[in-house]
Amino acid sequence: MNFQDKLTEKTKEIEDVLRSWLPEETGFAKRLAEAMNYSMTAGGKRLRPMLMQETYRMFGGEGEEIGPFMAAMEMIHTHSLIHDDLPAIDNDDYRRGRLTTHRVYGEAMGVLSGDALLNYAYEVMLRAFSMTDRTQRVIRAMEIMAEKTGIHGMLGGQSVDVENDGKPLEKDMLDYIYENKTSALIEAAMMTGAVLGGADQEQLNTIEQAAGNIGLAFQIQDDILDVTSTSEELGKPVHSDEKNHKVTYVTLVGMERAAREVQELSQKALRLLDGLEKQNDFLYDLIQMLVHRRK
Ligand code: IPE
Ligand code: IPE
Ligand code: MG
Ligand code: MG
Ligand code: MG
Repeated sequence: MNFQDKLTEKTKEIEDVLRSWLPEETGFAKRLAEAMNYSMTAGGKRLRPMLMQETYRMFGGEGEEIGPFMAAMEMIHTHSLIHDDLPAIDNDDYRRGRLTTHRVYGEAMGVLSGDALLNYAYEVMLRAFSMTDRTQRVIRAMEIMAEKTGIHGMLGGQSVDVENDGKPLEKDMLDYIYENKTSALIEAAMMTGAVLGGADQEQLNTIEQAAGNIGLAFQIQDDILDVTSTSEELGKPVHSDEKNHKVTYVTLVGMERAAREVQELSQKALRLLDGLEKQNDFLYDLIQMLVHRRK
């Protein structure tokens, strides 16, 4: 099977896992569940659960407890997107090929459904305790997930990002923003996969570094696509960064250097993974594919 076919098959499997963990749309809070599921079922590349599962497998993981963590990861990521699109942040109307959650359900439901997905992620992760005897690994994985999502991770990055709309930025602050708003969740994905799969602390450090580079490359490519792609292809608006007067890698170092950075950071990540002497060809191909992704 070629890479593209494998990717399609694996994405389908992940869709099934995600769907099995979504909240039921019943009772008085039905509309909240609908708003949560609206964005969760809109598609998306499912990159983070995929990276998590592949890292888990690379370390020999074969259990079921990875399922709730994959679903929780995508819930936390989707929460970050719903809130990122709100009028108070990037004020965007399309996401994953659909109108954004706040445009369909209203701003209040946009806020609440984002919060609810973040909280539900922890309700779902807790279920992993009854799916494995290795409870210490589950505790460690939940610690990583919590830390990488909050003030010392994604939310920290988002706050500095939005605070600096329209302001000039130095490279070190831009790096802080990318390492946190984007790399932190990629790190969470691969590190929880590694921990649940049985990685030791040294291996975990290597995974964190590799994932950090993948995340940076991913965000720089996102900036490039914001300028060079189309909204049809991306499923979200192009020129969102320009609209919000954002300094990005593209505006700071230029398109050519930005593209080279994506290439180099990805190579760095692959070299780090090589050093682990573990085998997962699909994971390698996936990281390489991201360099040239068009969406
Ligand atoms: C978008 O993430 C936000 C960034 C960190 C650039 P993705 O590009 O992974 O979005 P989906 O999940 O595929 O919609
Ligand atoms: C995304 O940054 C970071 C998070 C949502 C955490 P962007 O604002 O560039 O993401 P898109 O382009 O809207 O997906
Ligand atoms: Mg943003
Ligand atoms: Mg945005
Ligand atoms: Mg963007």
